[in-house]
Amino acid sequence: MIQFPKNFYWGAATSSYQVEGNNVNADWWPWEIQAKKENSGQACRHYELYEQDFDLVKSLNHNAHRLSIEWSRIEPREGEFSKEALQHYINVIMALRLRGIEPMVTLHHFTNPIWFAASGGWVNSVSVKRFLRYCDFVTRALSPHVHFWFTINEPTVYFSHAYLWGMWPPQAKSFFKTKAVHDHLNKAHIEGYRLIHKIYKELNLRTPSVGIAHHMQAIVGCDQGLKNRLAVAMRVQLYNLEILDHLAGQKALDFIGVNYYSRHLVDVHSWWIGNLLMETCKDNHHPLKKNLLGWDIYPEGLSTVLLDLKKYNLPVIISENGICTTDDNERWEYIQTHLKSVHQAMDQGIYVAGYLYWSLMDNFEWAHGFGPRFGLIGIDYTTQQRTVRESAKKFAQVCKTGILEA
Ligand code: BGC
Repeated sequence: MIQFPKNFYWGAATSSYQVEGNNVNADWWPWEIQAKKENSGQACRHYELYEQDFDLVKSLNHNAHRLSIEWSRIEPREGEFSKEALQHYINVIMALRLRGIEPMVTLHHFTNPIWFAASGGWVNSVSVKRFLRYCDFVTRALSPHVHFWFTINEPTVYFSHAYLWGMWPPQAKSFFKTKAVHDHLNKAHIEGYRLIHKIYKELNLRTPSVGIAHHMQAIVGCDQGLKNRLAVAMRVQLYNLEILDHLAGQKALDFIGVNYYSRHLVDVHSWWIGNLLMETCKDNHHPLKKNLLGWDIYPEGLSTVLLDLKKYNLPVIISENGICTTDDNERWEYIQTHLKSVHQAMDQGIYVAGYLYWSLMDNFEWAHGFGPRFGLIGIDYTTQQRTVRESAKKFAQVCKTGILEA
């Protein structure tokens, strides 16, 4: 039996574009059509059905919920801020508060307004000023009801997928653009962090907790050879720690949000820098069970990445952790084994304040469309019927008692 602390945050996460539906002013919307991808369309119609969804959240004993604000709804055209959209998000936050659920709010989760993308997106240095103007508008209105803020979701995933690998809009494949986006996202976080704190001070509100949701992988070498050891050390620093070193160094993190899914297996055959930084195992060494997208399931890696955070001496929230599968038993096993791993890191001195499963419900998995199902709640996309999965019920017991029967 494993006991988690009394005041632990238990819940699940979503993002606006993946669940709301009809985000016609976001850059992904035209891109899906142009790139001939499955269209996000109505998604889960969560924009209208959020009250009903939060009733389910409540019935599952979650005491926290992570969601994101859709910038393209708040500012559909440059400088034109929608009071109606803002009111919607106030209502959403209040619907959580009314049910005794702590809202955790992300300001940027991969999508941008079309006008923003059209004028250079995050490559343009003006992006930081634009983001701060949006932050200011949203934070002033939501601050009385929100304590936890994630400025930006997974900066490293965003700049690598959208600007380095060319898999997401705007499908750039440019090292220089990637570097610019990296720098602007860092700056946007640091200045966003300061702005949010300043607003809370001005309004005489309790000091907020502001962080990012950072994608972390367990980086493991296929063997202990020198090349692989060097490559692992370089990648742990570059992929996992570099951004945190920078933001923590600027005193711009009150907590670290960790999004953890999988293992990254390193097998390097040349000393060339490109291989050291990117070559992965192609020979199926150390095979593991995989999720539907082919990602290794590697629970022990979660405590490894958490232990790497010790030097920051900051609270950690597991802001995402989940599996896409058609077998719900696998989902429950995934949750259990990862919670055990979290607890092991806590035993070794890492202060973890909460665990949010990804995702509350099946949703639009970006370039993969609606196929991969990550949800605690299943969605029938033709009827919009919600079905609470068995794994969700088992997780609900843990949320209620703080006890994981191991
Ligand atoms: C993202 C989510 C995504 C999930 C599963 C995370 O990288 O924040 O938006 O759905 O992983 O791929």
